[in-house]
Amino acid sequence: MDRRQVLKIGTVAALLTGSKLAAAKRAEEMADVVVVGSGGSGFTAAITAFDAGAKVIVLEKMPITGGNSQLSAGGMNAAETVIQARKSIKDSWEIMFDDTMKGGKNISDPKLVEILAKNSAASIDFLLSLGGDMTDVGRMAGASVNRCHRPTGGEAVGHNLVHTLRQNAIKRGMDVRTGSRAIKLLTDGGKVVGVEVRDRFGRQYDIKAKAVVLASGGFSSNLERVAKYRPEYAGFSSTNQPGATGDGLDLAVAVGAKLRDMDQIQIHPTQAAGSKILITEAVRGNGAIMVNREGKRFVSELATRDAASAAVLKQTGGSAFLILDQNIRKSLKQIEGYYHLALCKEGVTPQELAKACGITDGDALADTIKKYNAFQQAKKDDEFGRADMPRPITEANFISIEIRPGIHYTMGGVVFDTQTRVINESDQPIPGLYAAGEVTGGVHGANRLGGNSISETITFGRIAGAEATAYAKANRST
Ligand code: FUM
Repeated sequence: MDRRQVLKIGTVAALLTGSKLAAAKRAEEMADVVVVGSGGSGFTAAITAFDAGAKVIVLEKMPITGGNSQLSAGGMNAAETVIQARKSIKDSWEIMFDDTMKGGKNISDPKLVEILAKNSAASIDFLLSLGGDMTDVGRMAGASVNRCHRPTGGEAVGHNLVHTLRQNAIKRGMDVRTGSRAIKLLTDGGKVVGVEVRDRFGRQYDIKAKAVVLASGGFSSNLERVAKYRPEYAGFSSTNQPGATGDGLDLAVAVGAKLRDMDQIQIHPTQAAGSKILITEAVRGNGAIMVNREGKRFVSELATRDAASAAVLKQTGGSAFLILDQNIRKSLKQIEGYYHLALCKEGVTPQELAKACGITDGDALADTIKKYNAFQQAKKDDEFGRADMPRPITEANFISIEIRPGIHYTMGGVVFDTQTRVINESDQPIPGLYAAGEVTGGVHGANRLGGNSISETITFGRIAGAEATAYAKANRST
């Protein structure tokens, strides 16, 4: 049955009322692989499956594709890449593994982290082969090497990434349906065999499929669910797109999936105060410092997000200020976006900047900048042990952005294995059900490192697409 027939049946069904509607059989379509979600993991899984010969349908509940990946700013962590080699950056998957395990407080599943680190260079190659731009490399907190890849000039990664994936789906003529919510996973004898869908007009139909890939993201925009797991985060705002509500978790649990680490919820230290805008960690990675309302540093700016957020929350008013200069501004194109959004204040001197942004002691701010520049020159931060200080803060106008922590990422999710198979409460794979990206748990443990999310979406998206297709082909005749 082709799509037009399904729509026609859907229209007829919509005209029926009450019990007649209930009695009418829902329209049915067929696919090899259905992908739920169209962010980085969903698109990657779908393109991989399509290129391996599967008939693929992508379902996206929101009116546009891209999920939370399209908001992604800082970049994608990867070790031993062609881009690093061009820049003579020495790195190894083992160092990336160690940084990730340590960042996650050693509660991540080491088998999954090994896959993340070992496959990261090939995931960069995959994006380059699709036409993506990953040529700028910087550092995010918790990394001991520059491995965060992003577009030329330090543009935000999300737009380039999603545009690249979307264009590749279009070029292939793939079946991507927006405004289409997966409301139930269909099962038969314990196997997942498809999805019940509700489209943007409220019409419901089934897609019978050999395999389903859940790539539906996390739940940072579901503030009620966040507060259920972490009551102390009630009242925080979220950096995420509104669709990040965690419905995919409910679909998986309804067919027996096991969850893990649900209370591991990341707050990002630098959401612009009074807005939903994330100020990328790359601003600090490229040299900004963070001071309190009294004009003093209070933590290493490259401390992991949990530590940096906790430190900000202890400062006067629970907020702080990023301080940077024109050189740092030039090093990262994303900063122009913050100007467009009127988030930046400027001053010719630190004292003038302090007045403009509400720091109470301008002389203290001047002294802090002077002291930091001396540490930067000596390559040793005697105050907070910051690991990397790539630029001094010397070029007027000086710039500040007021920030406070916001809900950013949910590390918990469905338990899955190295083949991306979703695991049930009896620790067995649920046949036909795969997952990738933020809907899963186990990769990031108690704290995700900046740049590891996009890395996860591409690597596990590729695996999920390949595994789901292999399963679908093996089960085509059943
Ligand atoms: O700060 C950031 O740019 C966020 C990146 C990430 O969450 O990976």
